[in-house]
Amino acid sequence: MSAHLTRNRLQGSTPPPTAPGPVTEFHRRFPDYAPTPLVDLPTLATALGVGHVLVKDESDRLGLPAFKMLGAAWASYRALVDRLGHEPQWSTFDELADALEPLRPIALATATDGNHGRAVASFARRVGIGARIFVPTGTSRSRIDAVLGEGASCEVVDGTYEDAVARAAREAGDDCLVVSDTSWEGYETIPAIVIEGYATIFAEVAAQSAAAGLAVPDLVVVPMGVGALAAATAQWYRRDSFPSSLRLLGVEPTSANCVQASAEAGHIVEVPGPHRSIMAGLNCGLPSPVAWPWVSTGFDWFVSIDDADAERAMRSLADCGVVSGETGAASLGALQAIDDLTLLGLGPDATVLLLSTEGATDPSFFAATVGRDAAAVAADAPPCVAAVDRDGPCPVDRCPGVCRR
Ligand SMILES: Cc1ncc(COP(=O)(O)O)c(C=O)c1O
Repeated sequence: MSAHLTRNRLQGSTPPPTAPGPVTEFHRRFPDYAPTPLVDLPTLATALGVGHVLVKDESDRLGLPAFKMLGAAWASYRALVDRLGHEPQWSTFDELADALEPLRPIALATATDGNHGRAVASFARRVGIGARIFVPTGTSRSRIDAVLGEGASCEVVDGTYEDAVARAAREAGDDCLVVSDTSWEGYETIPAIVIEGYATIFAEVAAQSAAAGLAVPDLVVVPMGVGALAAATAQWYRRDSFPSSLRLLGVEPTSANCVQASAEAGHIVEVPGPHRSIMAGLNCGLPSPVAWPWVSTGFDWFVSIDDADAERAMRSLADCGVVSGETGAASLGALQAIDDLTLLGLGPDATVLLLSTEGATDPSFFAATVGRDAAAVAADAPPCVAAVDRDGPCPVDRCPGVCRR
């Protein structure tokens, strides 16, 4: 198990920031919104030879076991509002569902490796409309069942994720809005809004770190599929308020390293399929063009890892009480697979932030890999760093303190 590490020679000035929409305010309107825990894992820090390993644990986000709802819901909402022609007044999802009445019959459509489509379907269900989800060949039964469980239709497209994207795009019409997290020529607005939606993760990290008196990270590690989450990471951490010494590392599977291959080529290239990594959310052959300007200029390194690296990282995180699926654990998998972390400028005082972007999205695979199911692992969950006073209220706004467990 060793990693293929590339220094990003395209790194340079990131695009000018655009004014973000009221995305975090939107997420706070969900009745079940709560910040996800940020945990500090000293055992892993010692093993990796760094000062702190902070993990943003996205295993339970707005009722789903991955971060994806943040972008899917925000983009779906903006697409529906755009079709409606005005922003309705609402404070509950029932009220929003009523306000969308003039659009019916209307559905949402997208392609997915699992998590984004499930999130689009979940948002559609909340507002009482349909969803049509398209998945590539090889998508696991439990991922398909999870989409169906949200009341959506789910069609298996014969081919790769990119083939599923092309199929979903054909659904666009009077009765259907396509909410894709990847872009193509002529379809850029919605994928850019998906990226905007992910900012809530970083706003929470900032609040939690401030509450705990933690330093700004030296390195942030992000799993990459089409690069939308990576673009959101660059949009956040490449602002002037952060030091230029802060490093960004993007992780992909060896068999679907389209961002790394594009960076090495100097322009977007496709890594042909089939893409059959267990890191299902990262099985993408083509970076998203709207994400690319941010990822290609904002990241310091790209790394590709093997499935065995992701499995090892799942077990390591589970040993620390963190439920992290095969895609979510890729961030740690990368650090464990890189032979010499001093290459990344990491030493005993460094603080590393790992995005663990999902929990047990494939519960049977999780249990088989880790040797326990997600509930058993979560029973040993560490406290959130912001839970400074275990008996008092959490200092982070709108946090019910559930992460103190
Ligand atoms: C759990 C998880 N992490 C990370 C990613 C990568 O996100 P992106 O495709 O925006 O690069 C995905 C994509 O589906 C995912 O499901």
